[in-house]
Amino acid sequence: MKKIMADENEETSTFLVLFAQEHVDFRVPSPFLEIVLPLEDDAQKILSRSLSIKSLYELWGTGKTLAQLCENLKKYPTRRMQPYCSKEATFRINVETYNKKIPQSQREHYYEALSFLPFKGKVALDNPENQFSLVLDFGQDTNVAAETPCRYYFGRLIGKGQRHLCQKYSLKDRYFIGNTSMDPLLSFFMANQGQARPGTLVFDPFVGTGSTLLSCGHFGSRVFGSDIDKNLITGRGKSSRASSKCKWRKRDEIIRTNFINAGLEHLFVDVMVADASRQVLRPTPIFDAIITDPPYGVREGVRSQISEKELTENRSEAELGYPSIHLGRLSDIILSLLHFSSQYLCLNGRLVFWLPVYKPSYSDSKVPHHPCFRLVANSEQNLFTNISRHLLTMEKTHEYNKSVTMDSLRDKNREFEIMCDRFRENYFTPSNSS
Ligand SMILES: C[S@@+](CC[C@H](N)C(=O)[O-])C[C@H]1O[C@@H](n2cnc3c(N)ncnc32)[C@H](O)[C@@H]1O
Repeated sequence: MKKIMADENEETSTFLVLFAQEHVDFRVPSPFLEIVLPLEDDAQKILSRSLSIKSLYELWGTGKTLAQLCENLKKYPTRRMQPYCSKEATFRINVETYNKKIPQSQREHYYEALSFLPFKGKVALDNPENQFSLVLDFGQDTNVAAETPCRYYFGRLIGKGQRHLCQKYSLKDRYFIGNTSMDPLLSFFMANQGQARPGTLVFDPFVGTGSTLLSCGHFGSRVFGSDIDKNLITGRGKSSRASSKCKWRKRDEIIRTNFINAGLEHLFVDVMVADASRQVLRPTPIFDAIITDPPYGVREGVRSQISEKELTENRSEAELGYPSIHLGRLSDIILSLLHFSSQYLCLNGRLVFWLPVYKPSYSDSKVPHHPCFRLVANSEQNLFTNISRHLLTMEKTHEYNKSVTMDSLRDKNREFEIMCDRFRENYFTPSNSS
């Protein structure tokens, strides 16, 4: 999220965003962000999608000291405070701290200091009409918290983010899971990056147990997926549930059941068994987003239906009628995903996928590129000392161009290929075990 500079326009309000301390690489470095928005509705829209935001406030004042905060609060326009301070409106003030816990006695001191605020209504600890927070920032150093806050904020609570969705879609309670099921928080980040919303169609070509599709469905997209693993798609094979009495999957342990359980079946188009290296769909730009977690060849098999014979024959793409890729190479998985997306994504549609990397050999310049796409975002999730994965978001900016083939893509992405194809080898070097 970009910081928007405050302007003097009376019609806008400054809001304070307080982020959760989880997957911090996916947001601005500070857990506090001040933004200026025209309407409270805009703040509500942000809250309705965000799982990084803990809470969001209409900011009434801020300061480096308590005295400075109080001074600034006195300057906040009374007409803006009034609707929330009337005799009829019940309210509650919370004292929240970042990076330090404080005793109740200190909280009392802060309530006392804020007693000049023009609240006329009754205090209600349960279900107040309006909630306010004094937020105390004790600094970023998690080893040594500052003695006193380095910044004070006071604001009206607009609402909380969607973090409760992590519980609602928890893998622990999900009926159908597998050993590579994506964590719900990350699945929601992916759905947001892909701008999943009503009226759109999202595709996951490495769908696995369908975690990414479930998050996209929650945001209103219709969803469709494919995977090479017939057992995953059809409810066969061994169950991944540790608690499962029966070691085999039941026939309803499939993605559709998860959608039924979440009340989202109407958005589930279908899933099919297919090899991502084969074009089984007529090439048309039909997807608004392609959101996926490709196999890295570490926990799950990277497979291909291309026979050894076809591989040794080394026939051209035109002869084969599909890209001549062998998905045994991580670089081919990724480049073929870009190639596929350039044909099947609508213009301005988004491709969102994870790229695993060995950190010492990574640099931003080695991120794969394709002439039909521009990179919109690149967020890193650290996994082990030397291993991380990057969530890449790309936007299709140009229509599919026949002259861009897998071979030409490989030529233009040599550095990426080298980095990528050493990933598996590097992953298993001893220094990477956590
Ligand atoms: C990292 S997992 C995806 C996990 C998924 N996001 C989930 O939440 O369950 C990668 C998936 O790619 C599938 N896969 C491997 N090679 C494939 C291929 N050539 N074509 C299609 N799917 C493939 C694997 O069966 C596996 O389910």
